[in-house]
Order: sequence, then C-alpha cells, then structure tokens
Amino acid sequence: MKLLPSNPSSSGYKVTAAILILLSVTSSTTFAAKDDPCAAIAGKSTASFTDAKACLDHFPFDQDIADQTLETIRSVTNDLYVFNEIAAKPPTVDGLAVVPVNISYGLDVIKNEKWESDRAFQDAVALLLDKVQDAHLVYAPFCYRQFIFWQPIQLNSLIRNRRLVVNVAYVKDDIWPDAKKSWTGCEVTHIDDREAIDMVVDYAVNNNGESKDVNTCYNNIMNTKSYFHGWDDGADDLGYHRFLPAQETHAYTLRCPKKGTNPIDEKYDEPFTVKVPWVAQVPQGFSDADSYWQSYCQSSYASTSPFGKRNAVWSDETVDELKRIHEGQAFDLAPVSGNSNSAGASQGGRYFEFIELDNKVGVIDIQSFSVAMQDRAEFASNFTEGLEKFEKNGIEKIILDLSQNGGGDACAGEYIINSLFGSTPDYMSDVKYSPFLERVVKKAYDDKATKWYDYRSEADPSKINADWFSDTITYKRGGQDVKFSQPITLSCGGWNAGVKKQYKNKKYKASDLLILSDGRCGSTCAIVASRLRLSHQVPALGFGGIRGNRMQFASFPGGESERLSGFLMDLQSLGLENDPDAPSPFPERADMGWTFREMYRPMDNENSKGDERYLLEYSVNYADCRLYFDDENADNVQVLWKQVAKIMLDGECPLLADE
Ligand SMILES: *[C@@H]1O[C@H](CO)[C@@H](O)[C@H](O)[C@H]1NC(C)=O
Ligand SMILES: *[C@@H]1O[C@H](CO)[C@@H](O)[C@H](O)[C@H]1NC(C)=O
Repeated sequence: MKLLPSNPSSSGYKVTAAILILLSVTSSTTFAAKDDPCAAIAGKSTASFTDAKACLDHFPFDQDIADQTLETIRSVTNDLYVFNEIAAKPPTVDGLAVVPVNISYGLDVIKNEKWESDRAFQDAVALLLDKVQDAHLVYAPFCYRQFIFWQPIQLNSLIRNRRLVVNVAYVKDDIWPDAKKSWTGCEVTHIDDREAIDMVVDYAVNNNGESKDVNTCYNNIMNTKSYFHGWDDGADDLGYHRFLPAQETHAYTLRCPKKGTNPIDEKYDEPFTVKVPWVAQVPQGFSDADSYWQSYCQSSYASTSPFGKRNAVWSDETVDELKRIHEGQAFDLAPVSGNSNSAGASQGGRYFEFIELDNKVGVIDIQSFSVAMQDRAEFASNFTEGLEKFEKNGIEKIILDLSQNGGGDACAGEYIINSLFGSTPDYMSDVKYSPFLERVVKKAYDDKATKWYDYRSEADPSKINADWFSDTITYKRGGQDVKFSQPITLSCGGWNAGVKKQYKNKKYKASDLLILSDGRCGSTCAIVASRLRLSHQVPALGFGGIRGNRMQFASFPGGESERLSGFLMDLQSLGLENDPDAPSPFPERADMGWTFREMYRPMDNENSKGDERYLLEYSVNYADCRLYFDDENADNVQVLWKQVAKIMLDGECPLLADE
C-alpha cells in the first residue's frame, strides 16, 4: 500500500498517488515530516498521545482491506469457533458476567459503518471479539499493536484497614518526568471525577475480555506488575495499552500519607488532583509513514493491485510471515514480560520453580505450559526432580501457584496431573463440525500430519481414522442445532515419548495441596486447575479481585485454541490452502485466535452429554477460600506465599462442597 499525505483533497495528492501507482511497489517516497505524522515521531523514544494518534490514524480506511478482513473473520467464527452460537445466546449463570454477542451481526454492523481510518476499523473488529469474554477469541492487528501506551501512574488495588482501595503501585518517571516518586503508596480516591473503585470496576466489567469472571478481569487490569508471573497479554490493562487509548489524559485525585506515617495509619496530607497524559513508547523500525506501513502493516499476502482479492496469491513470503507472526516475532517493542504476544498464550520463558518455605511447606510456581518442543524432556525431568527433592527435604504441604498462567500445551498439563494423581481420564471434549474442517481432518489422517491427526475417538482411542469427526452429533447451542464431532481425546503419546522418569506420587493427598490462583489461569492452566479441583478435590484459594464478590479460580477454561497463522500453515502443509472454504490470510498483517475444541465438566449421567450447561467455559468454578492483596503482599510474592502457607497449615481453606 502507498500512503496518502494528510490532505487528500489537494491536487498534489492526486498527482503523487498517480505516480506511485505507476511506479508500483518498488518506489518508496518519503513525505516531508510536516505532512507525515509518522516521520514526525520516527526515531523518538516516546511521543504524546496526539502525535502517536496522528501517525496511527494516517492510514486511510480501505474498503477492500475491510471486506477481506471481515470475510476471514466471518469464515473462522462461523465454521471453526466452537462457541459461536452460544455466544449469541448464552445461558444465564449465577456468578458469571456473560454478555450476549452475535458475532455475525456485529460484523455486519462494522461492515456498514464508514470508518475514519484503517485503525478505527481494525480496532472495532478487535473490540467485537473481545466482547465475547473468551480470551482465546482475539483479533490482533499488528499494525496497531506496535506502540505501547503508558499511564505514568500505575495502579494496584488492595485491602487496607478492611477497605478496598486503589493505590499508586509505582510511577513511570522514565516516560513522563513530571511523575513524582513520592506518589507511590498514595491512595487514589477519584479518577476522572468518579470514585476510583467505581471507575476501575466499571472498566474491568466493560473493557476487559479476558474472562467471564469480573474478579479475574479486575485482577487482569490491576496489580499485574508487582506480582508478575510472565503472562502478559499486554493489551488492555488500565494503565498499559497496546492500542490507542480512548482519551488523552486522566485526572487522579490522590491523598498521600503524612510524612513519617505509613499508608495503613491513614493519616493524610491534603488531597490533590493531577492530570496525567497517556504517553506512547514509539517502535523503532520505521522512518516515515511509508516505512511504518512496510514494517508493520503490509502483508506479504498481497497482490499486484494493492488490495485485489482476485489476484491474491500464496507465496513463500506468506508462509515466512505466518511463521514469524505465529512465533510472536511481529512486535517491535517487546511486551513488559519479554516474549509473549497478544494473540494467545505466552511463549518461552520459564515454566516452573520449586520453592521451599518454612514449616515444611513448598511452592510449585507454575508459570506457563507453553513448553517448547525441545524443552519437553527437561520440563518433565525437572518436575520429577523437584517433587523428589520436596519429598526428600520433608515438605508436607504444597502450594500450586497457578496465577497468571496463560496456558499452553495440553499434554504438559496432563503430565502434571498424572504426576500427582496418576492417569486420569480426560474430560469430555469435542470439535464443532463443518464440511471444510472435515476435509482438513481427513487429509490430516491421510498424510499422518499436523495436530488434526493427534485426536482419537474417546470411545475407542485405538481406531486411527477420521470417523470421530465425520460421525456427527447434533446438540443445541444458543437455541440452535449445531453439529459436533464425537467426543475425543488428545493423544499425548508423542509428548510422553521423551519422558524418562515420571514422578509417582504416594505421599501427597489432595488435602496436602492447594491451588493458588488470581483467576488469571487460562486455557490449559484452567483445565488443569479445574481437573485438580473437580476430579481430585484439591482445594483452591482465589486471590485478589473485588471484595465480597465470590471468585472463580480459572479464566477461559473453554478448551483448546488455534491461531489463524498456525492453522493456515497446517492447511498449506496439507495442500488445502486453496480450498474454496479455507479462510484467506488477512490482507493486513494480523492474527486471530479462537477456541475450536470445547471441554465439559464431569457429568452425572450420559444423558447430559453435550448439554451446554456443562461446558466449562460457561459454568462457574468457585474458589474455596479467598485472600486479598494488602500492603505487605502486593509487592512481595514471598510474603504472599507465607500468608498462603499459614492459611493452609491452619486448615482455613478446606474444600467446599459444590452447590
Ligand atoms: C445473529 O444475527 C443474525 C442476524 O444478523 C441472525 O441471522 C443469526 O441467526 C444470529 N445468530 C445467532 C446464533 O443467534
Ligand atoms: C531444568 O532445570 C535446570 C536447573 O534448574 C534449568 O537450568 C533448566 O532451564 C530447566 N529446564 C527447563 C526446560 O525448565
């Protein structure tokens, strides 16, 4: 794509555009900085909200890009997203905040709107999928996720003298010199003239799509930096965005402890109000709008005419690009944690740590299940060694800290459950049927290739063919008839092949274990936590959230997810990329994720099979007991673990009977 100067009606533009089209893709024209808002901020480390916005909004809305983008999303959500129908008409479940979202209708609305810029359009699409509150369902336009927007005041929330308060966790004077270190620890009483707590709860409920549990959303937008475990979706914290914020500044009213007193003494100086801007951290890989587009937005799935779908072709570059996107290398600025990405689970990094506390209590801090292929054997042997060492050192009680774990490999989760409780049957799971996916699954079995070849019929795992997919069953979802595969199970044979020695637990009973979760335990993590809790009666402690509001210990436990980048690479390797029903790669550099395999909680009887009320994603998983952030534990996970250990030793978190 070639860029338009900011005044498209001038005759100069028409001439330039005509020349650019004639010269085609090889020419790169730089506009003077004054006409090019991206050139104006290129090379700087930070930019104001207004300047960053001018650059991001410089790229005009394009009907063809929009149509192709919507077509791909519609095809994925209709054919492959397992919760598409139930999302439009969800069951009412006490304790869950489920808002109906008819995705197809939402896409129609977006299609019929005239958008002011490409960014406004792309962000509207992202927001629509966010509204479903299934963190697996995402649209990530990489073009508009390269800046990081910061509030120079970073907030957390904690209980102080039995009151839930909003508190300044730290300030970022590195990006905004006017921020004062002395504000740290001050209470925020008002934000934009509203009671701070009301504003924050409202934001958690309405602007965060991570979970159907508001406590989890609350924890997601707050507190996340001081108690950090490595999963950073980086998208939608209260004070940390990957997208353009809705307003330029926020006003905070602070009251700070009097000199020489602690916050807990509640002796304050006069309150004051500060107006704090959003500050953008600027990516470095561009010099002007043209190169910004080339670096971050231009998809290699392009055609000779700028957006012509008819000529769009797959090329080696398309595959290279999908791979790069899939591996999370499409960001210029790394998220705070290092190398996670906004379209799904965190990648790489540490997996777990074994920590011994006093009083024979140990912690297994499990941060991620995204185990790289080459790490599997070591992941398994390290886990075994850790537990053997716990036993040898006389550890009697174990805290399984699953907070801020964005999931990953289902077989890694399975391995951990099996280490503790021996082989455990899978929960029932199935895949939504579509004729297109049937061709994919059949070809995968013909070729013995791709992940689609790893599933087996739960009824007869020894049968290695695609019948589990073709012999469909019809269930009601959101009041509609929807076809599903037979119940399936995932073969972890390949995963386990590298395991040398699996720990066999004879020592620890369920009551010797405790799940610690801030609710931000998603996907594989959610399924591990649910199975430990529901099948093995390991009690769960919920951490943080809104006071007095019962909390879930697992966010988006829906099942298994896929990303378009990975799915398209699979299609390509199966030779199905040109199937008439195959989703096309996005015309702009972007990825999307969705849940394709749904998971059920244990059912009392066979007749409940397929009943939507048993879907893990749409049911409540209450924690048995609760702990809140406070002035001691909020910045110090060691203190937090000691508090949890005390609760455990005092027997204050027993398993509650499910209602
Ligand atoms: C979503 O809305 C469309 C109308 O735009 C309707 O045809 C469709 O049935 C709705 N889908 C569901 C699952 O309710
Ligand atoms: C296994 O443990 C060793 C020693 O602590 C560590 O260096 C290594 O990174 C761990 N491997 C994995 C895959 O976690």
